[in-house]
Amino acid sequence: MLEKYGHGGDLRSASELFGKNVDELLDYSSNMNPLGPPKSFKQAIEDYWQHIVHYPDPVQRELVAAIADKHKLKQESIVVGNGAAELIDLIVRQLQPAKAALLIPSFVEYEQAIVKAGCEPIYIETSEQLGFIPTLEQLQQVHASKRPDLYMLGYPNNPTGTLIPMEYILYLLDEGATVVIDEAFIDFHLEEEQLTMMQWLERYDRLFVIRSMTKFYSIPGIRLGYMAGDERTIRALKQLQVPWSVNSLAQRLGCIAFSESEFADQTKAWLAEEIPWMKDAIEQLHLKPYATVTNYMLVGIGEHYDINSKQLQQLMGARGILIRDAATFRGLSDRYIRLAIKSRKSNHMMLGALADVLKDYRKDERNVTKS
Ligand SMILES: Cc1ncc(COP(=O)(O)O)c(C=O)c1O
Repeated sequence: MLEKYGHGGDLRSASELFGKNVDELLDYSSNMNPLGPPKSFKQAIEDYWQHIVHYPDPVQRELVAAIADKHKLKQESIVVGNGAAELIDLIVRQLQPAKAALLIPSFVEYEQAIVKAGCEPIYIETSEQLGFIPTLEQLQQVHASKRPDLYMLGYPNNPTGTLIPMEYILYLLDEGATVVIDEAFIDFHLEEEQLTMMQWLERYDRLFVIRSMTKFYSIPGIRLGYMAGDERTIRALKQLQVPWSVNSLAQRLGCIAFSESEFADQTKAWLAEEIPWMKDAIEQLHLKPYATVTNYMLVGIGEHYDINSKQLQQLMGARGILIRDAATFRGLSDRYIRLAIKSRKSNHMMLGALADVLKDYRKDERNVTKS
């Protein structure tokens, strides 16, 4: 399977699995901004070689100042990490909750971090019928009966692309819960400023907000993310971190990223246009796209085709196109795949291959029970 090491975007595993060169593959299994990386990053990388003779700034002064400025936060409330993944792991290790709640389906690293820290996961099931969003009553019930010490929530959630309503998160915080919000994909949203939970950090000292630079700037190979929250916890958490975990190139690119406002505006505008187009195109293939607010889409294989997600991934892979088998997410069956949203040209290529594969698996319409 493609997700041998737990994630999409693993080109080396894909190359071994499908017998293709890495550069022949079109990757719809991980979700990078097709407009990125910003052009300014190229020059920064070319200039960088002179700096590799020095250790990186161990406390990332310039980058922390830029992050504090962007979110109007105190520098002491910020920690920079080797990708959001490092921070997901660190915050759970620092807080050492006995029980931590997470939505299913959600990003696999939440559960891994919880289990690795010896903590008990509390699953909050979401359903297709309710758009993969839990109800407030459900959260109230979990909170009252299980009393999780921590909630880990993707905002937007992965793989569903949905946003849990802000009032639900505020309800948990008002109840005194500790909540970690993963905003790895929030920067793609036109209303990022209004939606971000960063605005509540001053009010709630049990709220932690994680950001990733990976997706929006298309730099998964660089590893850069940050988290903001209560100063004392952040200070203690830094003690758990490996020294120099954020290399100097990552720090440099992070600083440049914050000045790329045109790139940010273009990205948000591109995606706002591409989501409805993609949804429409998927519907035309008689598949079932679920509503998303970000640059990937959960897709149900539905009732029209006699094929499962693993077979579909295999047949698409043989055509050089990688898709995510969503059955690898707890709570989803082999009737779901996750597709990135990329440039119109790539989307056409991916959809063309999908149509080609699916045509051999179309059910006789008399056997279709639901549409
Ligand atoms: C929801 C979510 N959070 C965090 C991450 C990790 O991001 P990073 O590359 O910054 O470690 C991912 C990566 O796929 C993700 O999907």
